[in-house]
Amino acid sequence: MSKQKSALQAKSEIDKRNTLNDLTNTQWMFFSRSAWLTTYPNDIGFEMRKRQGGNKPPRLMADLINFFTKQGDIVLDPMSGVGATLLGCALSGRNGNGIELNQEWTDIYHKVCEKEGLRRFPVTAGDCLEELDQMKPSMFDFAVVDPPYREDTKWDRTMCDDTHAARVANLPEQYSNSEKDFGNLKNYSDFQAKILLLSQKIKRVLKQEKYYVVFCKDEYQGGEFREKSSSIAEIVRRAGFQWKGKITWYQAGAKLRPYGIPYSYVPNITDQKILIFKNSS
Ligand SMILES: C[S@@+](CC[C@H](N)C(=O)[O-])C[C@H]1O[C@@H](n2cnc3c(N)ncnc32)[C@H](O)[C@@H]1O
Repeated sequence: MSKQKSALQAKSEIDKRNTLNDLTNTQWMFFSRSAWLTTYPNDIGFEMRKRQGGNKPPRLMADLINFFTKQGDIVLDPMSGVGATLLGCALSGRNGNGIELNQEWTDIYHKVCEKEGLRRFPVTAGDCLEELDQMKPSMFDFAVVDPPYREDTKWDRTMCDDTHAARVANLPEQYSNSEKDFGNLKNYSDFQAKILLLSQKIKRVLKQEKYYVVFCKDEYQGGEFREKSSSIAEIVRRAGFQWKGKITWYQAGAKLRPYGIPYSYVPNITDQKILIFKNSS
């Protein structure tokens, strides 16, 4: 064999300097696209998970986890819901740790693990703002938050008129009845304050130089487009994180509605933003 590695061999090896993940440089480059058109199948217990309107595809979470961690690393989801992140950890051979306010969602996660024969990770029942204080500093290698942006509250409508009622008709009224539920906050400024507090607490339990991802959807409200992803990113920056990027994830199955037709332009917002931050020193 020649002393020089072939270009093909070099591409399929993990760079010795890579301390972040177990990907080759080619896989790394593929991940770094700022827009994802990937459609994920409705699998891994979707029939059970869909009871919760905010559920995300476990394979999407596994893609993020595979990039931001190495085998055996520990991932935190302080609002773990029906378990997309934790299922993503099982798919990718990482360790997961959840916190969830509503036991109903954790029960569904447990059932999905059982049905799919996937490893089940611990979920602490309670308010993430309280439970995070009980955790040791610098425990986690990666954190993901998918907060409850309520589509059935005035401050978080993506719809321009009352047609939002049709969309939420088949979903539970809210994620829980608890006043500690971020989705039950009365206005957007209270929500922003909680996101700041949550991000500060996550910063304490996340290792230095590790990453934190926040899901967010922009919205059209009161006759105007609101770039909520930018306002959320500014809050997370205030908590001491560096904003490193934004992935636009196209939700291929999103339903279209005839907003504005035939008088004016109103967008159908068919993507979610995946905001990426680093816990830089
Ligand atoms: C959008 S859902 C997350 C969905 C999750 N990514 C999944 O795929 O299942 C938001 C979750 O945050 C939970 N939640 C809201 N406030 C919370 C709090 N203070 N502490 C912990 N969980 C909370 C809700 O019960 C809900 O399950």
